[in-house]
Amino acid sequence: MSLVNTVGAKSAVWRWLLPVLVVLVVGGGWIFSLLLPLRDPYIQAVRATVGDPSRGEQIFILNCAGCHGLDGEGEVGPSLLQISHRRSQVQLIQQIISGNTPPMPKFQAQPQDMADLLSYLKTL
Ligand code: HEC
Repeated sequence: MSLVNTVGAKSAVWRWLLPVLVVLVVGGGWIFSLLLPLRDPYIQAVRATVGDPSRGEQIFILNCAGCHGLDGEGEVGPSLLQISHRRSQVQLIQQIISGNTPPMPKFQAQPQDMADLLSYLKTL
């Protein structure tokens, strides 16, 4: 009888401990994946740079407008209107440099050029 009681008590502990562990592991991994890019030297350099939107517009016209439209309204690529409301700065940088979503190419921009571009995207 005492054996049955201990087993019952153990499974009761697991019933709340297991979800707590799952939440800690999944949540920890999620927070880590959010914080990790902030330690990336390139992303830090871009974030530390003040962008010039009119230079950013020139960069956009040369590199992005062919697919995203002259005013970012979308062509082959999706519309980028209000993109800064939908994506964080880090997400935008990653999208632009990653080349993970073909046909969009991988761009290698100097931190100043990237900061200019991001400041222009904010105006869309
Ligand atoms: C060859 C065409 C092409 C060029 C050039 C291009 N893109 Fe793209 N872009 C795309 C396509 C296609 C997608 C959609 C990818 C997907 O989600 O599968 C995309 C997606 C994006 C997204 C994500 C949009 C969202 O709603 O999440 C951003 C931001 C973006 N592009 C910015 C840029 C910028 C800035 C440039 C210039 C430096 C650029 N793109 C150049 C084709 C292009």
